[in-house]
Amino acid sequence: MSRPLKIGDNMKILVLNGPNLNMTGIRKKNVYGAQTLDEINRILKAYGEGKGAEMFFYQSNHEGDIIDVIHSSRNEYDGVVINAGAYTHYSYAIRDAIEAVEEYTPFVEVHLSDINAREDFRKISVITDVCVKQFSGYGIDSYKMGIDLLCEIL
Ligand code: DQA
Repeated sequence: MSRPLKIGDNMKILVLNGPNLNMTGIRKKNVYGAQTLDEINRILKAYGEGKGAEMFFYQSNHEGDIIDVIHSSRNEYDGVVINAGAYTHYSYAIRDAIEAVEEYTPFVEVHLSDINAREDFRKISVITDVCVKQFSGYGIDSYKMGIDLLCEIL
């Protein structure tokens, strides 16, 4: 169960990005797009606020940092949109962290690129089964779909 919302209280949504997402707009623009993470986050902030949510953003290249933020999301956020980057494909530690809190705070998995249409190792996501849904391959719209879904279910 997520944090009970008081009347007049905004739903709190965290957009959590993992390793190398800070290089978005610099690395492989043909795959990940030309917008920087700052530009993406600014657009998502306006998008979420337009839906009445309070938006928070965090990016880290370190697995332990991401795990700590996932744990604290239980008390701090009503829902999380997560792009775990390459950790998606092999981090059982991140998977278990989500599993530990998803009963309190739902997670939606997102990817800029279509992970099912790329190298074989990317086709495996170890976090899918602990997330409400996966949106992959829609660029920034993957995050918007994640925000939409959280706004529907929260
Ligand atoms: C990604 C896809 C991953 O395979 C990759 O390691 C990333 C970004 C995406 O958003 O498309 O870093 O999660």
